[in-house]
Amino acid sequence: MKEDSFKKPSILEVENLNLAYGEYQVLEKVSFSAKRGKCTVLMGGSGCGKSTLLKSMVGLLAPKGGRILVDTIDLWAVDQEEKTSILKKYGVLFQGGALWGSMNLVENVSLPLETYTELNEAEINDLARYKLNLVGLSGYGDFYPAQLSGGMKKRAGLARAMALDPDILFLDEPSAGLDPINSHRLDNLINELKVSLGITFIVVTHELPSIFDIADDSIFLDGQTKTLLAQGLPSDLRENSEHERVRSFLRRGTPISKN
Ligand SMILES: Nc1ncnc2c1ncn2[C@@H]1O[C@H](COP(=O)(O)OP(=O)(O)OP(=O)(O)O)[C@@H](O)[C@H]1O
Ligand SMILES: [Mg+2]
Repeated sequence: MKEDSFKKPSILEVENLNLAYGEYQVLEKVSFSAKRGKCTVLMGGSGCGKSTLLKSMVGLLAPKGGRILVDTIDLWAVDQEEKTSILKKYGVLFQGGALWGSMNLVENVSLPLETYTELNEAEINDLARYKLNLVGLSGYGDFYPAQLSGGMKKRAGLARAMALDPDILFLDEPSAGLDPINSHRLDNLINELKVSLGITFIVVTHELPSIFDIADDSIFLDGQTKTLLAQGLPSDLRENSEHERVRSFLRRGTPISKN
């Protein structure tokens, strides 16, 4: 990362991104930026390409065109060594991202630390328990995933994604499958971590209450045109977006009228 990177408000800039699986075009000309220390939500209907965009931002799917700048460095143009050093600053929770069932929570959270750090076993153990404390799971380190509720599993996944002290946390549908109360708890946790640790969040979700609770900024991806239709604060977009599909999505499809 560049020395002066902390002065820049944007930590991520996506320019004219073109994403496809082979011949199958998913998104074209996607441009937006994500601000440091803020939560940017990627939203849009099922199949519009949210997870695909996320995969490209975390270095798993090469774009057909365009650039992804992380602290001004082009993620897909640098050599493998530099790419790895960027990716080490990331934490990722994939859609349906599961914990290892045969490992307890401390072991699950320890995995990235064992792989990517030189810390000894005792230090790793302490750090893993500390991360579990951060997500409200102190005392559950010796539990196995099967012994936890859905909400606790999600929080453990978040602890694992935070193991390496990421600058940016990418979460794909973190509250999917949770009841409204646990979903709200997870949203609160995201907001707390953002403020207390200064982490930048990029969160895919199409759950409206979450969108309004966590987003400092959002982008709307449109499956019909395969483009980004809007960027802004969700409450502003709901009222003022020039695109009917954006306003309608944020009103849960309720007919648009100004009253
Ligand atoms: N590995 C793949 N190979 C080919 N096509 C894919 C692949 N993954 C996704 N797709 C297609 O790309 C499009 C976008 O998929 P993606 O998973 O990014 O959507 P999404 O917005 O995350 O949807 P959801 O909200 O259901 O998770 C879909 O039409 C999907 O079928
Ligand atoms: Mg998805």
